[in-house]
Amino acid sequence: MRVLNRMGAVLLTAWCVTACGPAVSPEQWRAGQRLFAGDTPLVARMVGHHDVLPDMATRCSNCHQTQAKAAAPGFAPTLSASSLLTDTARRGGPASHFDAKALCQVLRNGIDPAGVMVNQSMPRYEVTDAQCQSMWVFLVERAP
Ligand code: HEC
Repeated sequence: MRVLNRMGAVLLTAWCVTACGPAVSPEQWRAGQRLFAGDTPLVARMVGHHDVLPDMATRCSNCHQTQAKAAAPGFAPTLSASSLLTDTARRGGPASHFDAKALCQVLRNGIDPAGVMVNQSMPRYEVTDAQCQSMWVFLVERAP
């Protein structure tokens, strides 16, 4: 019986390491949500412009939906765990997927994970690592 119990504990631990994953910090998720919605303003510019955009124009949610289910407005891609984490040919490049670092990169300089430049209609952001990490968690994790 004890052996069975121990086996159960080992199996549960092994399952949890792969299935439970690291717990999402509610604070980080909400910080990402606020940044994405523009409730916490971000500094951004259009390509080739020196002037900082007004806060209203920098909101990710102006252009991007975050639910794969909701109809995308067609202007900018819907951002969801599946759209970001699945290997997909984006903008004619080879198949690629995003991670937190790749999100920081595309926000800062417009280069996607395959090395392709995104359209200039997407502003370029001055984000800290902590800011894009939070937005990453918000985009790919369920609300904690
Ligand atoms: C003014 C509209 C606009 C705003 C604001 C905007 N984006 Fe975008 N974004 C776009 C467009 C358009 C594309 C697609 C560009 C292309 O395909 O060349 C894009 C592409 C992306 C991609 C690449 C998606 C993929 O599947 O390859 C990511 C990630 C992204 N945006 C994240 C963000 C985040 C996070 C913010 C806010 C910090 C933001 N965007 C703000 C318009 C916008």
